[in-house]
Amino acid sequence: MAEPEALAFDMYGTLVDPIRIWKRLEGYVPDKDALRIAEVWRQKQLEFTFRLTVMERYEDFEEVTRKALDYALAESGRELEEDRKEALMAQYNDLERFEDVEPGLERLKELGYSMVVFSNGSPRMLDEIMDAAGLRSYLEGYVSVDDVKMFKPAPKVYRHVADQLERPIGEVRLISSNPFDIIGAEAAGMQAAWVDRSGGLFDTLGSRPEVVVGALTELADALEARRG
Ligand code: LAC
Repeated sequence: MAEPEALAFDMYGTLVDPIRIWKRLEGYVPDKDALRIAEVWRQKQLEFTFRLTVMERYEDFEEVTRKALDYALAESGRELEEDRKEALMAQYNDLERFEDVEPGLERLKELGYSMVVFSNGSPRMLDEIMDAAGLRSYLEGYVSVDDVKMFKPAPKVYRHVADQLERPIGEVRLISSNPFDIIGAEAAGMQAAWVDRSGGLFDTLGSRPEVVVGALTELADALEARRG
């Protein structure tokens, strides 16, 4: 049988949960604001990456994440002392891993898939979170968009991961819960699998990929079935 495709895993929202940081925020702001701040933080973080890329400018993901936190706090009318903001930024590199990650990756590893993380995260963030979330034993490393100084979904970043893996882009599959990332990867010629962590809601800008799973524990069977 032909060599299976290489798997490139998105980090935030796919392997670890950026929204759960609201639990930490609860210690700093009234409960009613914590979840909203976490959600606006994430939305604004992504919006800033899109805008920087369109403007052909680059600031690394840590800077973008910090600025997005400032926005989310201001939007809720909250202010935090610098040390609390630092604590939140540190927590960002220790986000909770989704439950299905370990068993899902274990099974794929047994089947011999070549697997890396592929993320907007800066090398410093990815180094820390790979250790904190115990991902090093499953994944061969990470590819950061920081190498090309552009964010997803610029086609160049998807080509870059294929180059790093030394595989034609069509032999790499992005695994992501983020619809914008799936649509971007397919537009660049990559295969994709959507991990539906949002109850079925996909972006209407594109169509769902052929592989859709409800959890990473379903991915090995879904991929093996396609190989026949
Ligand atoms: C990442 C963001 C898109 O990890 O979740 O690249």
